[in-house]
Amino acid sequence: MTKKLLVAALLLAPGAIAQSPLYGQCGGIGWTGPTTCVSGSTCVYSNDYYSQCLPGSAGTTTTTKTTTTTSKATTTTSKAATTTTVSSSTNCQAAAHGFASLNGGTTGGNGGTVVVVNNWADLKKYATSSGKYIIKVSGKIVATTTGEEIPVTNDKTIVGIGSTGEIYGGGFGFKNVKNIIIRNLKIGNTYDGDWDGKTHDWDGIQSDTSTHIWVDHCIFERGADGLIDLRLDSNYITISYTTFRNHNKVLGIGWSDNVITQATIHHCYFQNVGQRNPSADNLKYAHLYNNYLNNATSYGHYSRGYTNMKLENVYFEKVHNPITRDSTAILGASGCTFVSCTGSTAANSGTAFNPSSFYSYTLDSTANVPSIVKANAQPLAPICPS
Ligand SMILES: *[C@@H]1O[C@H](CO)[C@@H](O)[C@H](O)[C@H]1NC(C)=O
Repeated sequence: MTKKLLVAALLLAPGAIAQSPLYGQCGGIGWTGPTTCVSGSTCVYSNDYYSQCLPGSAGTTTTTKTTTTTSKATTTTSKAATTTTVSSSTNCQAAAHGFASLNGGTTGGNGGTVVVVNNWADLKKYATSSGKYIIKVSGKIVATTTGEEIPVTNDKTIVGIGSTGEIYGGGFGFKNVKNIIIRNLKIGNTYDGDWDGKTHDWDGIQSDTSTHIWVDHCIFERGADGLIDLRLDSNYITISYTTFRNHNKVLGIGWSDNVITQATIHHCYFQNVGQRNPSADNLKYAHLYNNYLNNATSYGHYSRGYTNMKLENVYFEKVHNPITRDSTAILGASGCTFVSCTGSTAANSGTAFNPSSFYSYTLDSTANVPSIVKANAQPLAPICPS
């Protein structure tokens, strides 16, 4: 066979051409799907059960581990000898999927000036500058004024380096801005001792009338008010692979009579929380899938006001009132698992929208959601290695 024919035969062989999409699974125990990723992404090992296609140059390094169910780790395949680290593009760029990918998309500071910051003053300086910036956060940055929300301007990516980027004692505020990516960061610890959150209006992210927002691979914990408050017609929002923990008022979306907000919330981990997990009030479209809630004391996913909510393959464990719906709201929930839950779960009502008519996405099976979410809903070093 000539070389050309051999290549053609390989390309035509079933399985040989299949590649996982960005953020798709590409390995792990029991995985029978593709083990390579589409161009522009790299297969990154998370745990024995899950490897994922993350943004980065394809084909440079592959760290997918193939395992058997009995032994811990078996083979590690390294494709190219030239690269030794699993690397995202050097500028830590990525673009959003889900609702944040619509109507022009969310690309943050892609293509702009790249800066590294390690203190509050520099973070503030670049986050409030005009123009495109990719602001890489090195280590833990402590807010000089507790509770301050840096007023981020258009076209910014704020991304933690490695897995240790952190905003401690402060957060971000978006006011009439667009195109902002917050990735790979731990944010929070403004807690003032008031569990009800009535003493200080200090949020991890507070967005008013802003659009194209992507929060990805972050941890939000112990805030004074809301961990994330998305208010007053904020729109085109995606929150992915993010943990919300040790907090009362977690994720509120709404505070508007208009019904225009569209949000995708998936593979998020709500752990040891009170209410608003999330509370989705008057959303035109709320797409919630593959989230894992463990120990929520007040309520879980809430379709509120005139929201149209599509809720798929969510794993609820020790959640009080796992799914709530107002009489005016639409709810289409399917494939969920409930373990040791209390209170009540709302019945479906009305005709939920079809997310597939807006964007493509891949549902993980509900049984795998806890392990996938626990391994991924946090900063991960390969997202922005340096
Ligand atoms: C459950 O979460 C609440 C916070 O909402 C916390 O106070 C409590 O200790 C948690 N329970 C367990 C068993 O972790």
